[in-house]
Amino acid sequence: MILGEYRAENKNLKGSSSTGHPTSNEGYLNDEIESNRLPLKPAGRYQKTRSTQASPMYILGIETSCDETAAAIVQDGTAVLSSKISSQISIHHPYGGVVPELASRKHIESIVTVVDEAISESGLKKNQIDALAATRGPGLVGALLVGFSFAKAYAYSLDVPLVGVNHLESHINSVFLEPQPPAFPFVALLASGGHTGIYYVTSHTSVELMGQTRDDAAGEAFDKVAKLLGLGYPGGGVIDRLAREGNPQKIVFTRPYLDKSDFDFSFSGIKTAVRHYVDKHPSDDAGQIADIAAGFQAAVVEVLTYKVIHAAQIKDCEHIAVVGGVAANSGLRNSVRRDARGRGLKVHIPSVKLCGDNAAMVAAAGFHHIKAGMQSRLEDDVFSRNTV
Ligand code: KG4
Ligand code: ZN
Repeated sequence: MILGEYRAENKNLKGSSSTGHPTSNEGYLNDEIESNRLPLKPAGRYQKTRSTQASPMYILGIETSCDETAAAIVQDGTAVLSSKISSQISIHHPYGGVVPELASRKHIESIVTVVDEAISESGLKKNQIDALAATRGPGLVGALLVGFSFAKAYAYSLDVPLVGVNHLESHINSVFLEPQPPAFPFVALLASGGHTGIYYVTSHTSVELMGQTRDDAAGEAFDKVAKLLGLGYPGGGVIDRLAREGNPQKIVFTRPYLDKSDFDFSFSGIKTAVRHYVDKHPSDDAGQIADIAAGFQAAVVEVLTYKVIHAAQIKDCEHIAVVGGVAANSGLRNSVRRDARGRGLKVHIPSVKLCGDNAAMVAAAGFHHIKAGMQSRLEDDVFSRNTV
C-alpha cells in the first residue's frame, strides 16, 4: 500500500540525531528513508490531497518523538488553527530524565484525546483535513511508533495522504509559523535536548549541516547541570530563571569554542567544569546556585551566539533562525539579537511555545513536503537516529 515517498531533495539533508535525549552526532536523513524511496505511484487513494490550488490546505500534524504528545492543525504551512500539547514532564520528573517505555505508554493513552482536541479547537470537521504529517524520526523508537502508526491509520481512514517528517526539519520550519519568516537561504541554529547543530537552509526541505555537537546537546547540558544542582528535570527553564538572579561574571566557565572557524560544538566539558566547581564548593546557598546557573548559561549562550553569527557571515546570509527547546532561553534570545544588530543580520526566533516540541511545526514542514509531492507509505518505518 503506497502512502508515498520521500523525494530526492532530502538527499541534501544532513544533521545530528535523536531526540528523546539519546544524543548522536550523525547525519540528518537516515538510511532507512534512503532505502525506502520508491517512485511515486500515480494511482491510489493517497494520490492527491483534497485541496485545489485556490483553496487552503489544512494539515493535521502529530508529534510523539520524545515526551510530548502533540497535535495541531495548520493552514497552508503558516497559520496555526490549533496546537495541543500533552506534556509528560510530571511522569519523567522523578527519574531525572525521559524513561522511554513510560513515554510510549503515555503517548498511547493521550494521542486520541490530543488529536480530537486539536481538530475540535481548529473549528474544522474531520473531512476538511487535507493531509497528515507525523514525526518519523529521529527520536525514541517506541514513542515515534505510536504517533506514526496512529497517523497511518488516521490518514487511511480519512483517505488523505500522510507524510513522515524529520524532527529536525520540523524545528527549522517552526520559524515559518511566525508573521515575518526568514528568506532563503538562511542559517539556522537548532539547539534542543537531543541535538545541537548549525544548518544552511536553502528551502523548506533542503538543509545542509554545517556543524554539530560532538558530545552533549545544549539542552542536555542544561538538563544535566540542573540535575547536579538539584533543580530537577527538565533543567532549561529553571536555569534560565535562576540565571536572571545570578551574576554571570562571578564564576566564569571556559567557553568551549573548539576551533573558532568551524561550527562544531562541545558541551560536556562545561558540564564537567560545573560538577568540579560544585564538588569543590559544596553549598545550598541560593545565591551561589544562581551564580553557577548564570555562569553556566553565559558560557553556553556565548558559544552558540558566536557560532551562528559567524556561520551567517561565512555563508553571506542576511537571515538567522534560532530554533529548538533551547531557543526559549531568554539569555540566548537576547544575545543573538544583540550581536546581530549592527551586522545587518535579521534574527528569527519562534515564540516560546513553538520552540519546544509541538505539532504545529510538524504540520508546517509536512505542508512543504506534501506540496513537493512527498508522501509516506504504510510500510514505512520510524527511525531513531540519522546515519548519513
Ligand atoms: O526541542 P525540545 O522540546 O525537545 C527535543 O527535541 O529535544 O527541547 C527540550 C530541551 C530540554 O533539554 C530543555 O531543558 C531545553 O530544551 N529548554 C531550555 C529552555 N526551555 C527548554 N533550555 C534553556 N533555556 C530554556 N528556557
Ligand atoms: Zn525537538
